[in-house]
Amino acid sequence: MKNKIVLKNTDNLEKELIEVRHHFHKHPELSNEEFETTKTLRKLLGEAQIRILNLPLKTGLVAEITGNSEGPIIAIRGDIDALPIIEDTDLDYKSQIEGKMHACGHDFHTTVILGAAYLLKQQEATLPGTVRIIFQPAEETGKGAESILKTGVLSDVDAIFGLHCAPDLEVGSFGTNVGALTAAVDRFEIKINGIGTHASSPEKGIDPIVVAAHIITALQTIVSRNVSAFDQALISVTHMESGNTWNVIPTEAYLEGTVRTVNAKTREFVPSKMRQIVKGMADSFGATAELKWYSGPPATNNTKDWASVALDVAIQQGYVIKKLPKTLIGEDFAYYQEKISGAFVNIGTGVSYSLHHPKFKVDDATLLPGSKYFAQLAKCALDIISDK
Ligand code: NI
Repeated sequence: MKNKIVLKNTDNLEKELIEVRHHFHKHPELSNEEFETTKTLRKLLGEAQIRILNLPLKTGLVAEITGNSEGPIIAIRGDIDALPIIEDTDLDYKSQIEGKMHACGHDFHTTVILGAAYLLKQQEATLPGTVRIIFQPAEETGKGAESILKTGVLSDVDAIFGLHCAPDLEVGSFGTNVGALTAAVDRFEIKINGIGTHASSPEKGIDPIVVAAHIITALQTIVSRNVSAFDQALISVTHMESGNTWNVIPTEAYLEGTVRTVNAKTREFVPSKMRQIVKGMADSFGATAELKWYSGPPATNNTKDWASVALDVAIQQGYVIKKLPKTLIGEDFAYYQEKISGAFVNIGTGVSYSLHHPKFKVDDATLLPGSKYFAQLAKCALDIISDK
């Protein structure tokens, strides 16, 4: 780990980062609507004389810091979007936009990566390569990473790193692992067609509600009976609709839900088994049913080498390493990792309500260490590739 970053004065930077995060927190913007956030980032990067690349992005941006232009290229990524949640904290910088909140800490991610960019800019002359800094829109829709990838700006990147705040870890804690840190997230819809009739004479119709009930129950056997107990998978039916009164058997029923997996083979298997159950169950009642599948991000996939570099740098920066609890939340950073090796890490932001909760909070003390960590990680990664 040569070229350790030494800051002359971190007091002002910390103050500035706190101000910047509070600004983003007060002004949350939903996925693909991050116009003001992007404008603010452009202004801040411009003032720091960090070059912004000219890309066809509606929101979000990619900046670049070039040391030795012949050297390797590393990317670091922060996501910038907020959620449609009414904030219920007592913070003096709580959301000023009704119904929108940075409840997933993306204001923290944005600020950490911005701070890392400032720190890397100070060291630009000695960088053995290039760092691309991604401020990604629309993580919450699972589509933002693809919009960045589509521009081609990452086609020559050697390694990529990203972060998520962890409200179950104390300030100063850090975690990552090899392989999946977050799950593949898919969505499904099931439409069941029966035959409507008077509620007093069900024998004249085919009741789609009974079919739906059997399908819901049968779907629950996939994880318990078809997936190994050593694997992880989850099927949740989260939405059902049918009928509109008490004395009519309706014609249709609708189900919607999500499947979470961490293993690519299981991810392929589950929808095929679901199709079999949906069709077979509907057939057995004389109804018809159709399953529609909407693929979301795959599971994140940290390579062994970069996960161990990410951990080494965390230890060097004074973080306490924690074993991460298993989670089946999704993260579209996984799309980058399908193409580029790298690592996704969790930084403890102080024990708080969970992600996406109206009372979720991030501790300001975690900002500057996060920025220092990402600057050092980028530099370290450049060193490692340059030395090869
Ligand atoms: Ni998030």
